[in-house]
Amino acid sequence: MILSQRELFNIPEDVAYLNTAYMSPLLNSVVSACDEGVRMKARPWELMISDFYDTVDDARRLFADIVNVDKEGVAIVPSASYGIETAVKNLNVGLNRTVVLLENQFPSNVYPWHRLVEKKGGKVVKVELLDEESATQAVLEKINTECAIVALPNVLWTNGRLIDLVSIRKRCDQVGAALVLDLTQSLGAIKTDFNIIRPDFAVVAGYKWLLCPYSTGFLYVDPKWRNGEPIEEGWITRADSRDFSGLVNYTKNYELGANRYDVGERANFALMPGVVSALRQILDWGIDNIHNTLAENNKKLAFELSEIGLSSMPEHLRGPHFLGIKLPVSAPKDLINRLAGEKVYLSERGGSLRITPHLWNNEQDFKKLKNVLIKHLK
Ligand SMILES: Cc1ncc(COP(=O)(O)O)c(C=O)c1O
Repeated sequence: MILSQRELFNIPEDVAYLNTAYMSPLLNSVVSACDEGVRMKARPWELMISDFYDTVDDARRLFADIVNVDKEGVAIVPSASYGIETAVKNLNVGLNRTVVLLENQFPSNVYPWHRLVEKKGGKVVKVELLDEESATQAVLEKINTECAIVALPNVLWTNGRLIDLVSIRKRCDQVGAALVLDLTQSLGAIKTDFNIIRPDFAVVAGYKWLLCPYSTGFLYVDPKWRNGEPIEEGWITRADSRDFSGLVNYTKNYELGANRYDVGERANFALMPGVVSALRQILDWGIDNIHNTLAENNKKLAFELSEIGLSSMPEHLRGPHFLGIKLPVSAPKDLINRLAGEKVYLSERGGSLRITPHLWNNEQDFKKLKNVLIKHLK
């Protein structure tokens, strides 16, 4: 168990921020790194060619360590949508074939698939979930020989409903379907081993559970897709780009690995040092330790909340880092605003109260949450 790390963040004592699924606060060390980073552009004469490459490379390596893969498979992207679009550009569906999604999954992993089938045929199948049913089982039932692509999260963003990606991968292998993942709501908080899950493409927006600045993220690409078509044909992803004076010696060759999928201006002097700093901190804590600590804290919190009549999903059906509480019909419509008035910050998505604490939270936050819920739900 990791003790509360609140002192590493700039969070006033009376603020109970339990909303990582919306956006994590930045670590103080990340703010300092970005501050230094943004100042690099104030003195461009001091910028070196290596500044366009080294920090990005560090970020790739650190991310690869988190998910247990080679750094050559990691591309730098600004958003989940960018990564999903890269997958869409390189995968095919075909007539009578399906793309399997979970109902109510995040739009960045829905709209692009609809456009793909409009353009190339096939259809989108959305897996409906019944309460108390295993989401994994429900998805497995829809993965059959018609299925070309399965595009999923690890947990549903509204309520934390968990999908076992290892079982999904096995079924995809049996039917020859590609597996595309949006792990924005889980990566950084729960153990995730790409060596085992072997996603074809897996994207994560970094500003939630990876504690990174906004507009930063990663795309992992399986070796079999690393020769595909990127969204952009930028200069820095081509071979020999370090020779700035020779850039008009145009080349067909790309840098190795998944780098061809990097977003333009990936060096992002202001934000990339913050990404490196955040990932270092996550690795220092250790993903297993983060996972176990969040799981344990949430288990306790779920018990406390059940004592005041608020039940969360059974543990085996939800992500350990995520509590989704079904609100009673009598709950005030402006509950979230009322809680914010008390300096307790959560969100409501799809009728669920989404409670997503992290290592900055402490006992005082959890007590305060319980007390204000008692006050406003009575
Ligand atoms: C599951 C999931 N994916 C992606 C995003 C963000 O998408 P994008 O990076 O495309 O803005 C969110 C934001 O809430 C999310 O919950």
